[in-house]
Amino acid sequence: MSKLVAGNWKMFGNKAMIADIKKIDQYCKEKTCEVAICPPFPLISAAHEQTKNIKIGAQNCHININGAHTGEVSAEMLIEVGAQLILVGHSERRQDNYETNDIVKLKSEAVHRAGATAVVCIGETLEERTADKTLSVLQEQMLKSLPKNITPINTVVAYEPVWAIGTGLVPETDQIRSAHAFIRGFLASTYGAEAHSVKILYGGSVKGSNAKEIFSISNVNGALVGGASLKSDDFIEIIKAASNSI
Ligand code: 13P
Repeated sequence: MSKLVAGNWKMFGNKAMIADIKKIDQYCKEKTCEVAICPPFPLISAAHEQTKNIKIGAQNCHININGAHTGEVSAEMLIEVGAQLILVGHSERRQDNYETNDIVKLKSEAVHRAGATAVVCIGETLEERTADKTLSVLQEQMLKSLPKNITPINTVVAYEPVWAIGTGLVPETDQIRSAHAFIRGFLASTYGAEAHSVKILYGGSVKGSNAKEIFSISNVNGALVGGASLKSDDFIEIIKAASNSI
């Protein structure tokens, strides 16, 4: 299956950085993997208008289509301005905005209702890993935050160990392999044969220098990239590694 390299810009970026998105889009004319960038909401429309070869995504959405929810944005609104995928349940939102598994599930359903792809983020904290609870945490997150009808088109799962995000710490190869194998097994036993083609991304301190090794691990179908997606040259290194690993 072709790999997906998705950049999560978090709350970084400005209009001038649309030039970086254009540069990445140009590079991706020749690429053999899928590429997406999720900038902050105000940049989605311009990013969409300036790109042809990559997908543009969003980092969050509300559960409803519209309504009296000041400051919120619906999945339908995001699609209208060019978003094709929407991150849900990122650990920063689970922490900063108290998003529970139940809320993450409702948001995933909202993304499906709108017709986009939900990138559902899961991952253990360092405390949970140290207590040997990684797989049970992942199981609980998947059981409670994934909706019923997931397909390779409407859903991507992103495994992001919280302790690896923005820290420069990357799990051992075996730790990534076993988490991804567990996620694949859960998806297959819960959703059947189609789930074999649901992409499972790894996220947490992915860089040009470690991408090749990470992409060689079985059941790693791409990466969700934070810091290294903010510089086009760094992000292109990761795209290159993904394109070469197929
Ligand atoms: P970093 O790549 O900066 O560690 O961030 C990962 C992440 O949170 C992507 O969603």
